[in-house]
Amino acid sequence: MAELVFQQCIDPRCGGTAALSDTTFACPKCGGLLDVAYDWNRLPVPKSLQHFESKWANRADPLDFSGVWRFRELFPFAPESAIVTIGEGQTLCQRADAVAAYAGLNAGGLFLQYEGMNPSGSFKDNGMSAAFTHARMTGATRAACASTGNTSASLAIYCAATQLMRGVIFIGSGKISYGKLSQALEHGALTVQIQGDFDDALRRVQEVSRQLGIYLVNSVNPFRLEGQKSIMFRVLEALRWEVPDWVVVPGGNLGNVSSFAKAFRELAELGLIARVPRLAVINAAGADTFYQLHEKQGLRWAGGRFGRAQVEAYYAALDAGDRHADTLASAIEINRPVNLPKALRAMEWCNGVVRAVADADILDAKAKIGAGGLGCEPASAASVAGLRQLVREGVIDKDARVACVLTGHLLKDPDETVAYHSADRAAFDAKLGKRGVKSVGFANRATQVPNDLAAIVKAIETSA
Ligand code: F0G
Repeated sequence: MAELVFQQCIDPRCGGTAALSDTTFACPKCGGLLDVAYDWNRLPVPKSLQHFESKWANRADPLDFSGVWRFRELFPFAPESAIVTIGEGQTLCQRADAVAAYAGLNAGGLFLQYEGMNPSGSFKDNGMSAAFTHARMTGATRAACASTGNTSASLAIYCAATQLMRGVIFIGSGKISYGKLSQALEHGALTVQIQGDFDDALRRVQEVSRQLGIYLVNSVNPFRLEGQKSIMFRVLEALRWEVPDWVVVPGGNLGNVSSFAKAFRELAELGLIARVPRLAVINAAGADTFYQLHEKQGLRWAGGRFGRAQVEAYYAALDAGDRHADTLASAIEINRPVNLPKALRAMEWCNGVVRAVADADILDAKAKIGAGGLGCEPASAASVAGLRQLVREGVIDKDARVACVLTGHLLKDPDETVAYHSADRAAFDAKLGKRGVKSVGFANRATQVPNDLAAIVKAIETSA
């Protein structure tokens, strides 16, 4: 009898499969990306999404407490005894009217899914708990990733908190925020800094993992993406199981968007939702491969027949011009998104669009999100900057109901925030001026006063 759970090539014409226990994370027939696939007819699937509310009463059980694993019937690849959780997914979906007004939406139209509340401060923990679970099932003792910072922070914290594996982290020699680097070091991961950028580091970690038999936790690992589906389950839960019109997400390696589309597609196929939302992926303008290919060059999934030569030509042109990704939103400073084929499929499944936003717009959006009470890192704010652009273009209607994913915490990357709000023009110019950030529209400058009571009182009374 066929397996209940297995790995399946995403190209429907290939038909390649791999066993649940396989850790190659490449199709054995064509080398392409794999999905985790389920024989849903033979698995116990809840009759409605309300089913998951019953788990709230059972929070003493760590699996029901986890905001990932309380939805485990929707990614049933692991026996309960193998599941690894450190309490991830206790996140917030907050109605944000002030940010809605900034983006051009009506009050009540915007919800911010704040993934900064995870144990390592980013959405990565949703996927890391799933990858660790699979790694445990396969008996792995070491796990590796290349990272712009958050995946490595997440890997390091899961290694330290569970003591199940030794973490090996590859980072590029370019931008990594100190908040994230400090997590990798503090939690004791073996940190390897490679002379090159993230795209170089990702290629190397795949080679090294294969050679040394180290379990790979980058988002080419389809089990990670199974865990990230729970971000969308929690959005639906917060919206009382009503599907939003749009989900807007920053795009880097394109794991999230691939995972979200799979989540909605499966829910629709299982009859648990009546329609899927549209997806908008937002690149930074300095790392806009997906935008260029999907929007400018019209690249489409086409049932798996997308123009692979077109993608190769695009990358060859980047190499020929020695063009590397370059954005203040360092988390998404990626030019060769490993999940590009899956993301193209996601665009087809969810009638998606891609946009690219300038660093200046990202920082303004971030300041508005912060003023509304949620602190996020620059990459996360790309979602709101992109939403604002799409509302202006008339692609997203001002009456729409939209969920934007805030992927990482403000404190991951405080340098840019301080520079943005700085009264010191030299500090601002050193950090931001060279990058085309001209206006700091929403800066909240510190007030400079002499050490004198009367002057301090006056400063407060005149500004409050
Ligand atoms: N937002 C943040 C805060 C991220 O750290 C990342 C990716 C993304 C968005 C993009 O998500 O790759 O699923 O499209 N960070 C990876 C890392 C690449 O290494 O931490 P994606």
